[in-house]
Order: sequence, then C-alpha cells, then structure tokens
Amino acid sequence: MVEKKKKPRSGSPAGVAPWVVILLGSASDLPVIEKMLPLLDRFGLPHVVEIASAHRQPDKLKRIVVKTEKNGAEIFIAVAGMAAHLPGVVASLTGKPVIGVPVASGPLAGVDALLSIVQMPPGVPVATVAVGSAGARNAACLAARILALKDTKVAEAVADYRRELARGGR
Ligand code: RP5
Repeated sequence: MVEKKKKPRSGSPAGVAPWVVILLGSASDLPVIEKMLPLLDRFGLPHVVEIASAHRQPDKLKRIVVKTEKNGAEIFIAVAGMAAHLPGVVASLTGKPVIGVPVASGPLAGVDALLSIVQMPPGVPVATVAVGSAGARNAACLAARILALKDTKVAEAVADYRRELARGGR
C-alpha cells in the first residue's frame, strides 16, 4: 500500500489570512519544510502549505496563487526538485516576492533544481536559498526579514532569533 503523506495543518490562526504561502511541487517534498514551519511560527508569520505541481497541476497552482494573493499573502515560498520550474512559474503569476527552495530529489542531488531556480531570466526574480532543509529554514528567515520592514513585532522576533544565534543557538 502506498503511504499517503499528510499535509501539515495551516499555521494561520482561525480567521487570519496567511501572509506566507508555502507551495510544494510534490508531497514528497514535505520533509524539507519540517524545520521551516516552527520558525515561521516563532516569527509570528501566519502561513499555509499547499501542494501543487507546476507541470502536473498548473491550473490548481494558478488558482492558489491568485486566491491567496487576493486574500493578503505577502510572500510566496516555492519548494521543488528536479527541473524545479515551480518558483519561476509562481513568480510569473504574482508581483510579490518569491523565495525558491531547491530540493535534492533527483539523481543530480539538487544541483538541477538549484541551477533551474537561481537562473531566472531578468525581470522575473526568484530569491534562491540553499538546497534542502537549510535553505527552507533560510527561506523562513528571509521572509521574516522582509516582513520586518513593515511590522515591528516581526522585527523584534527576528532580533530575538539573531540574539539566540549569537549565544550559540542553532
Ligand atoms: C518535483 O519533482 C517535486 O518538487 C519533487 O521534488 C520532484 C519529484 O516529485 P514526485 O515524483 O515525488 O511527485 O516536481
């Protein structure tokens, strides 16, 4: 029997529209974002996780991006492996910042995804972070730093996290 991976519950309190939308190309990418979600909570960023493949479910992907942006989403984090066109397609559908997380899911161990995500043609930017879980955590940190520009509570949470790192926290 094929084990079905469960999508994590939304990190938005009831009635609060997500500020950060995390899009995964496949349920097989879920382990990569495990340590990202608690970080988003720590920074006080309401978020939601959606699974939508850019090549298998382009209509679903477009619906999610359009709807969540209309509801107030500020940042999109797109996580994908192999040819990894998901972050670029998301960036084509929204004018909000898009952060791309390459996943080491193919025989090329994530180098394929990294080069695909980082090499966006001019005019349609994707901020690319490291391959895998480290990149996913940095995507949460980068989202928090961007949103801290206009939200003092998020800015304080970022400062607190940095103080913890300086004390040797990981
Ligand atoms: C990409 O291809 C996904 O982001 C995943 O990393 C990779 C393999 O997907 P599955 O075949 O496991 O669904 O689209």
